Amino acid sequence: MADNLKTNARYQTWIRMNKLLIFLLFSLLFILLTFLPINLYLRVLSGIIALPLIYITFILSYSYYQFAAFGGNYQSKIHDLIVAKVNWDGQGKMLDIGTGSGSLIIKLAKAFPESLLTGIDYWGDDWEYSKDQCQRNAEIEGVSDRINFLKASATKLPFKNDEFDIIVSCLTFHEVKDERNKTEVMKEALRVLKPGGGFVFLDLFMDEKIFGDEKELLNSLKKHGVSELKSYKLAKVMKLPKLLLNKKVLGNAMILIGRK
Ligand SMILES: C[S@@+](CC[C@H](N)C(=O)[O-])C[C@H]1O[C@@H](n2cnc3c(N)ncnc32)[C@H](O)[C@@H]1O
Repeated sequence: MADNLKTNARYQTWIRMNKLLIFLLFSLLFILLTFLPINLYLRVLSGIIALPLIYITFILSYSYYQFAAFGGNYQSKIHDLIVAKVNWDGQGKMLDIGTGSGSLIIKLAKAFPESLLTGIDYWGDDWEYSKDQCQRNAEIEGVSDRINFLKASATKLPFKNDEFDIIVSCLTFHEVKDERNKTEVMKEALRVLKPGGGFVFLDLFMDEKIFGDEKELLNSLKKHGVSELKSYKLAKVMKLPKLLLNKKVLGNAMILIGRK
């Protein structure tokens, strides 16, 4: 057995470790300043600044733990939920937009053993995932022969119209920086979906600041060729720890299941 096949696949959580460490560092710095024998005004100010930093550090650490396999394993459970919502005979091509470390697409490859899968991501420096890692994970999990990983942006998918039978995407549209209007990014996904093809999108669709008015978003998708569309609040279809329902974590998460 090759050396790399002996190791376990590695799937980081959605919480970036470097972001968590930066908040932790600044929290500790401001706590320290509060206790130093310096000007009282500066100490009080440091204490006031420390409070929100401590809160954010706590939320990030707690979410990290709940998403990780050694903790609540909710990231994997949410991916399982998406897999379960894919209503398909498994014959044909599937696309995962913003594939990250490949966790979701690898689960899909196992659930649909005759499918051919493509995972795209821009794998920017601001994330801790990479294409190499996806390929390694797919090899370790024994599905690398059916998954093609491609570096591309969700705003300009390098595919012909109507190419895929199924498209999934998990917590990616809201992260796309090269297009302000996230509905346009979703329309780009629909462009490469076959008529009659299905999609399962999970994202913070209830966050108006990112996706605009929820009804308008759904109507706009319907006007753009979506023939069937159902939306579910994530918290209604899955029991989540209360703190993960914070609006800055998964409080605004929703699943859209539809057909073109
Ligand atoms: C929260 S992570 C989710 C990763 C994966 N879908 C999962 O559920 O584990 C967001 C992902 O979106 C990707 N992303 C952000 N902007 C993108 C873009 N313009 N095109 C493609 N992927 C993008 C990031 O690289 C990252 O992998």
